[in-house]
Amino acid sequence: MTARHFLLDTDLTSAEQAAVLDLADGYKARRRAPGPADRPLAGRSVALLFEKPSTRTRLSFDVGVAELGGHPVVIDAASTQLGRGETIEDTAAVLSRYVDAIVVRTFAQERLERLAAAANVPVINALSDHAHPCQALADLQTIRERRGGLAGLTLTYLGDGNNVAHSLLLAGALAGMRVHVASPPGYEPFEQVVRHANEIGAATGGEALVMHDALEAAAGADVLYTDVWASMGQEGESDSRSLVFQPYQLDEKAVEAAKPDVLVLHCLPAHRELEISGSVLDGPHSAVFDQAENRLHAQKALLSLLFAAEAGVAEAGTGGTGAGGADAAR
Ligand code: CP
Repeated sequence: MTARHFLLDTDLTSAEQAAVLDLADGYKARRRAPGPADRPLAGRSVALLFEKPSTRTRLSFDVGVAELGGHPVVIDAASTQLGRGETIEDTAAVLSRYVDAIVVRTFAQERLERLAAAANVPVINALSDHAHPCQALADLQTIRERRGGLAGLTLTYLGDGNNVAHSLLLAGALAGMRVHVASPPGYEPFEQVVRHANEIGAATGGEALVMHDALEAAAGADVLYTDVWASMGQEGESDSRSLVFQPYQLDEKAVEAAKPDVLVLHCLPAHRELEISGSVLDGPHSAVFDQAENRLHAQKALLSLLFAAEAGVAEAGTGGTGAGGADAAR
């Protein structure tokens, strides 16, 4: 049986992504009064493997799996045999015998892909150096609940063309959004990601654009977004990056250039007065804590969809119809 993974935003179709956002809204609305159908992970276990630090992702998956009726098992490299050199492939094969899905935060996307290739349960990218697709689902949920829709909106991302920018480009394209990324020369998102986003946008009405002038990019934006200037593992470059990225700070000038009701997002953790001014992060346009909360709801929805797909495959293998799986969401 081939497991359904979520390693990159484009592992969901446009319709599946919209279905996940609908499910996420439902989980959010029913959180304090869940029904029997809100526990699709009953009797299942999910490994949460974190090779890098995390607050939001780790906690929201831990709580989310439990709220879905499942059993979360949090592990890290240092306290497992991974830290003593056991291969990611052997680890994936062993974990697949114990748990029903593996959520992984790691370094290179290639390491994540190797793990997924050796696993026979769904693998979810909880951040790699290339992409942060779970974050993008929560971002879209937050925008949609504040604006009522996504297609045609302009999201301007200021700063490093990193994993978060890549996922916004791809998930935004799937939703028919215009995603403009303003980065210093040399720090743009990968060309292949921008090209891929524009290929998707040709069908959805989305558009991906890389710019170098922050205020020009912010002009007329519906959403302004930023992330840290030095990602995990780049701490040694913090001082030099602070100089290069200074013109890209999400500050009051950027907010004034955008639409009057612009929504301000940041995936957190934030550094006030570096990538975002404190007055903007804590100001009236900011939805960053709703955004952080939505990690929980969006990931519960994603897990539900992946487990429904697994159930569909298993049913098909035993003569069932597979109805209710991923195809049903398209
Ligand atoms: N936004 C995000 O991924 O936060 P954590 O690093 O705390 O998980």
